[in-house]
Amino acid sequence: MKITVIGTGYLGTTHAACMAELGFEVLGLDILPERVAALASGNVPMYEPGLEELLRKHLHGLEGSTGRLRFTTSWEEVGDFGDVHFICTNTPQRRGEFACDMSYVESAFDLLAPHLKRPTLVVGKSTVPVGSADRLSRRLAEAAPAGAAAEVAWNPEFLREGFAVDDTLNPDRLVIGVRSAEAEATLRELYAPLIDKGTPLVVTDFPTAELVKTAANSFLATKISFINAMAEVCEASGADVVQLSGALAHDTRIGGRFLNAGLGFGGGCLPKDIRAFMARAGELGADQALTFLREVDSINMRRRSRMVELAREQCGGALLGRRIAVLGAAFKPDSDDVRDSPALNVAGQLQLQGAQVTVYDPKAMDNARKMFPALNYAESVLEAVTGAHVVLHLTEWQEFRSMDPDELAEVVAEPRILDGRNVLDPQRWRDAGWTYRALGRPS
Ligand code: UDX
Repeated sequence: MKITVIGTGYLGTTHAACMAELGFEVLGLDILPERVAALASGNVPMYEPGLEELLRKHLHGLEGSTGRLRFTTSWEEVGDFGDVHFICTNTPQRRGEFACDMSYVESAFDLLAPHLKRPTLVVGKSTVPVGSADRLSRRLAEAAPAGAAAEVAWNPEFLREGFAVDDTLNPDRLVIGVRSAEAEATLRELYAPLIDKGTPLVVTDFPTAELVKTAANSFLATKISFINAMAEVCEASGADVVQLSGALAHDTRIGGRFLNAGLGFGGGCLPKDIRAFMARAGELGADQALTFLREVDSINMRRRSRMVELAREQCGGALLGRRIAVLGAAFKPDSDDVRDSPALNVAGQLQLQGAQVTVYDPKAMDNARKMFPALNYAESVLEAVTGAHVVLHLTEWQEFRSMDPDELAEVVAEPRILDGRNVLDPQRWRDAGWTYRALGRPS
């Protein structure tokens, strides 16, 4: 079986490299020639641990590689090559709306369709509103020369950035939405190496497969906002949210994962997925079912304003002219993704209110500069915090966890730190003379 992967962002590049790792011949397509050129020369244009090594292990033309993985911009080549086509294009939030922008997925189907001349399976992996697979399936059958023999299946992807390769090769579960025994058999054969080692496989219909993804992300977002709502109550009552979540986590029905209180969730998935889900529920007449997600979103956004408020408090009530160091720009550690980054959002708000903000991040500086060119950027933690009246720790990179409070105390204007991720050791910082404050913890 030969595989094509359409769209080479985080999802597509990872999927292509992992399919090659599972032993398949893979052809990746992107409409951006510069993206294809970078991948074809062995460079992954984003930071994702382990991905570049895997790409190079399989990239055609590299000495010592298996040669199973190639890239192209040609739809015709993709149509000729693939027995199974994976659609991995992104579905961002529409500008000024909650609904998701389906245009990249739709155009992938439209551009691929004329080249599907023999029986093939087109497998959607993108996160889409429930009902999309059915609609795209009809659209494809009308446009493909192979007609209904060009069948659609839906196979949502649950990978996390920073763990993309491991999540793809060792997933918690595989979910496939299919309409025929042939489609199921094809996907079972394709994922046999994962199924054989015990990965649970859920075979279901289109709408359920689509919903598993949106429901999973909504649940995760709800869990984070739940603990952040508790952090608000902790702040009002003098309780400690870190101890609270630790105690809750002992209850195996609750579990400790995604229960870290702090600045809340960001990135290219959780925020836009819960909004798109609300929009879709509205279209389906089921909006009441998801009104709680509005609250999940509001709690999440309130954490960012609270961090700005705390920074103002620490600056004596006025931000104008105060020097603030922001440690972290990526929406989470081990990623250079700055989409809907809580850290940059806070940095931007502080700057708008007159503070002089200097940002440092181990990997996301280039992306941050593109998105927020007016902020100041430093090349190291030490440079960022030099002369700062307050230091904000907003993305929990390992580099920040191991900072030496004594060393930093020498260069700041005032030893004050706000821990937006609740991972620094308060005692260690206080012992070194710092004022340490965190979201949801007593001062
Ligand atoms: C998420 C889903 O986890 C993944 O299954 C899906 O395929 C895509 O969306 P990702 O966006 O890569 O993955 O990041 P994730 O690790 O889920 O974190 C999302 C955000 O939540 C980050 O901003 C993170 O800092 C925040 N978070 C996570 C918390 O604030 N607290 C937590 O306890 C966990």
